[in-house]
Amino acid sequence: MSHLYGHFGAEGAGYSQPSALLSSTKLNIPSSLRRKELPALPRLSEPEVVRHYTWLSKRNFGIDTGFYPLGSCTMKHNPRVNEVIAQIPGIADIHPLQPEHHLQGLMSIFFEMQVMLATCAGMDAVTLQPVAGAQGEFTAIRCIQEYHRTIGESQRTKVIVPDSAHGTNPASASMAGYDIIEIPSTVDGRLDLDALSAAVGDDTAAMMITNPNTLGIFEEDIAAAALIVHAAGGQMYYDGANFNAILGKTSPGLMGFDAVHYNLHKTFSQPHGGGGPGSGPIGVKSHLADYLPGPLVGRRVLALNEKSNVSDAWYYNWVEPTKSIGKVQMWHGNSGAVVRSWAFYRRYGNELETMSEHAVLNANYLRHRIMEEAKAAGVSDAFTDGAPADIVKHEFTLSLLPLKESKGVGAMDVAKGLLDHGYMAPTVYFPLVVPECMMIEPTETESKEVLDAFAENFVKVLTEDAKVLHAAPKSTPVGRVDEVHAARNLWLRHEKGRQS
Ligand SMILES: Cc1ncc(COP(=O)(O)O)c(C=O)c1O
Repeated sequence: MSHLYGHFGAEGAGYSQPSALLSSTKLNIPSSLRRKELPALPRLSEPEVVRHYTWLSKRNFGIDTGFYPLGSCTMKHNPRVNEVIAQIPGIADIHPLQPEHHLQGLMSIFFEMQVMLATCAGMDAVTLQPVAGAQGEFTAIRCIQEYHRTIGESQRTKVIVPDSAHGTNPASASMAGYDIIEIPSTVDGRLDLDALSAAVGDDTAAMMITNPNTLGIFEEDIAAAALIVHAAGGQMYYDGANFNAILGKTSPGLMGFDAVHYNLHKTFSQPHGGGGPGSGPIGVKSHLADYLPGPLVGRRVLALNEKSNVSDAWYYNWVEPTKSIGKVQMWHGNSGAVVRSWAFYRRYGNELETMSEHAVLNANYLRHRIMEEAKAAGVSDAFTDGAPADIVKHEFTLSLLPLKESKGVGAMDVAKGLLDHGYMAPTVYFPLVVPECMMIEPTETESKEVLDAFAENFVKVLTEDAKVLHAAPKSTPVGRVDEVHAARNLWLRHEKGRQS
């Protein structure tokens, strides 16, 4: 490659055409600030760089390459129109420090999003700032904490979670300084009202729960649970990770919740997983609205004589909630993610309900197809239904305990076996209340053919030899990795000469 550098200069790494801009910028850099030596970065031509990344992308697996049934994660198709809208220069090329009147377009999107999210969840106010569901949980719990402090109830130091809760719920509450009370579920995987009644008291700050719960079952007693918690002076927090099942059908507000987070990257599409940016806005009832992190977007009608370069009849402005807990994120959160989800929501409009219906239909269809296939293949005793309910919502669980006991093949082995059949593995070992758990969530955009093929392949894996499954996956670039080592010893630096 050296002939390229010889011709166009070493700055041309990864680039093989002359650049007038490059040479004129170089002139403006004082010699005292210029490097004496070039950085030891790998230097390749543009086609080599393109080939490298294209090769890497082909080793990846994503929703665009295959079925991705990861439970609790709602891995949706991301309509490309969302990307087009997020890249409009008036949205992509602005800076959050520009004056309000420069940002009217983006602010109008934020405003609409605040209103749309508040409406579908039955809440009164929304902040778009948190950038993950877990950060939304922490933010809302901090708002509840400040609310209790302001009304003189700082003795409320306990947060109640069911034993099926996602780990982020107790983690967020604990980060805010709360003690966690875990209550057991009933044998059919639902909230136990007696256990809840026994757990609440003067020290209850909140209860955190998702509905449908993590087994994919709708908590029919949720309104009664809200009455119990409220009667004790506590607040109800809705974990919105499972919102895809109920959008347009009912709302956390109707169920009695005071605060909610939305995982825009799950329910409202936005690439996620593998590091894709998320967005976890929160919505609250009016008594908590003053505590939200600011700024929020407000608007007023433009006066006729007002000089402005905005073409709308509204003028959008930043609003600081009066008793705000403070910012939880730089600027306004992941604004690109908000814009993509806004585009998604706008296209569905009042049809959001149909989207949820299809998600629920797909989950129930797949659940029954897997049972049918298993029966036909004579392996129906390989697993039991994690959720002994006739109808689940948008996802379902299976317990692979019988297979583990009969042939030593656990949920992890089946998950790895599925990779060799060209599928992303479902979620494994969550929720913890289901032994050898597999959790499957197909989402609304998958076709019947895709679901049928997955059911057939899933059952084929169950019938495979234990030795084969223990050694799976064989077809992926790497086999079984030491996940604990990989998570604890992150290696993020480029080292000269190192190939892997
Ligand atoms: C039930 C539940 N709650 C909360 C979260 C946390 O959301 P996030 O990953 O956006 O932080 C998840 C994530 O998978 C979840 O499944």
